Amino acid sequence: MPETTIALDRADRVASIDRRIFGAFVEHLGRCVYDGLYEPGHPTANEDGFRLDVVELVKELGSTTIRYPGGNFVSGFRWEDSVGPREQRPVRRDLAWHSLETNQVGLDEFSRWLKLTGSELMLAVNLGTRGIEAALDLLEYANHPSGTALSDQRIANGTVQPHDIRMWCLGNEMDGPWQTGYLTAEDYGKLAARTAAAMKMADPTLELVACGSSGSGMPTFGDWERTVLEHAYDHVDFISAHAYYQERNGDLGSFLASSLDMQYFIDTVISAADHVGSKRKSTKRIAISFDEWNVWYLDEHKESDEVNDEWRVAPRQLEDVYSVADAVVVGNLLITLLKNHDRVRSASLAQLVNVIAPIMTEPGGAAWRQTTFFPFSVTSRLAKGDVLRPTISTGTYETVVHGDAGIVDAVATHDAESGRAAVFLVNRSQTAAETVRIDVRDLGVATVEEALSLFDDDVYAKNTFADQERVGLKANGSASLADGVLTIELPPVSWTAVALA
Ligand code: AHR
Repeated sequence: MPETTIALDRADRVASIDRRIFGAFVEHLGRCVYDGLYEPGHPTANEDGFRLDVVELVKELGSTTIRYPGGNFVSGFRWEDSVGPREQRPVRRDLAWHSLETNQVGLDEFSRWLKLTGSELMLAVNLGTRGIEAALDLLEYANHPSGTALSDQRIANGTVQPHDIRMWCLGNEMDGPWQTGYLTAEDYGKLAARTAAAMKMADPTLELVACGSSGSGMPTFGDWERTVLEHAYDHVDFISAHAYYQERNGDLGSFLASSLDMQYFIDTVISAADHVGSKRKSTKRIAISFDEWNVWYLDEHKESDEVNDEWRVAPRQLEDVYSVADAVVVGNLLITLLKNHDRVRSASLAQLVNVIAPIMTEPGGAAWRQTTFFPFSVTSRLAKGDVLRPTISTGTYETVVHGDAGIVDAVATHDAESGRAAVFLVNRSQTAAETVRIDVRDLGVATVEEALSLFDDDVYAKNTFADQERVGLKANGSASLADGVLTIELPPVSWTAVALA
C-alpha cells in the first residue's frame, strides 16, 4: 500500500482560529429563504415562520457568520422594502434570478433567525443599483441605538436593540457582467472607497469587505484586486474571493485537486494586495474574505430548475445534489482555507439551505443533510486553537487542469488550552487506499479520541429526498497512536478527521 508521511510541529503555526472561517451564506435566491429556512405553516415553524428542524441542522453544521442577503440578489435590492409591517411590504421583481421577492423576510426577522442558530450577521449593501446614501441609511437603521429617524423606525418595527453588525460587504461580484450595475475596477474601486469612508465616518470600528474577483478565471483577475485596492486600501479591511468547482468532462482527477486552484487564487490575491500595500509603504495588511466557495454544477441544466419566463416566488433553483466526491472536494477546500488562515480570516460556504447547500428541505416535509454537510460540520466541531501547517511527503498524480497534485492533503489544529489536536486529511487517489504516518510527538497527545471518514464504493453516491441517509460518516478503525506516531489508512477518494487528546 502506498505511504504518506506527515510531520506536525507546534512551531509551524499558521494562525489561531477565528470562528468566522466557518461562515456560510444565505441569499434570497430560489428556496434558500422562502420554502427553506422560512416556511410558516410547516409543523416545526416558530411564531416568525422559521423552521426549527432547519435551525437544529444549522446548529449541527456549526456555521458561524452568515453572509446575507446576497449574492447577485443584493445588487437590485431595496432594503427599505423588507422592514416594517409585513402586509405593507411590496412584491418586487428580482432581476438577478428572474423571480419574485415578497419581502416577507427582512433584516429584523433574519436577525431573529440568526439568534436561534447562534450566528453572526455579515450584511451586504447594494452598490449595483444604489450607492452611498442607501448604504448609510441601512447602517443607521441597523446599528444606530436610537433617536434618529431610521433607528427610531427600527424600534417602532419592534427591534429595540441595534443589530450591531460588524462585517459589511461593499456590494457583490461587481466585476461580473451578470451583476446588475456591474462596474470596471476603476469605477468600483472609487465607489467602494467612498462608500467605505462614509460608513467609517459613522463607525470607524466596522469591518468592511471590498469585492474581489468572482473567480480565478475572470479576465480581470489579479488586476481587479490591484486596481480596487489602489483606491480603497486605506478604507477597507478585507477583499473578497469567490470560487466554485465542478467535475467537468468526467475528469475526476482534476476535480479532486480543485483546492490547487483555490491556493493559486489566494496566493494571487495576497500578491496583489501586498503589492499595493508595499507601494503605499503601509503596515496594514488586507485580509481575504473567501465569502463564496463550494462545489456548484454551474454548467449543467437541472431538471429540477423551475426558472422560465414566468416570474415566480421561490422557484427551485441551483438545487445541486452532492456526491461523496463532491464532499471530499468540499473537505479539501476547507483544509486549504485553514492552511491560509493567516490571510483568509473569514469564509462563507455558499450557500446554506436548498441552493447549492449542505441542508435540503421539502415543503411541509423533512430536512436532511447532503454529503457536503459532514466534512464541514466535523471540521467546525473539531478545529480548535491554532492551525498548524503540516510537512507532507506524499506521491503525486498528473491532472489535466492543475498539473501535478499530491495524493494526500492535510491540515492540523492544536489547542494548547485543552491539549487536544485534530488532523483533517483527504486521499485523492481513485484506486488505492493510502497509509499515512503522522509524527505527532511535538503535540503531546496520547490517544485517538475519534477517527471519522467519508467514502463509499460508489463515489457518486448521494443523499436524496428518497434516500436521505444513503451517505454518512464511518468510524475509521484503522487509526492507532503509538510512540508518537499516528497511523491511519485512508480509503480511495475519501475525507477523514482524527481527534487526538
Ligand atoms: O451563490 C450563487 C451566486 O453565485 C451568487 O448570487 C453570486 O454572488 C455568485 O455568482
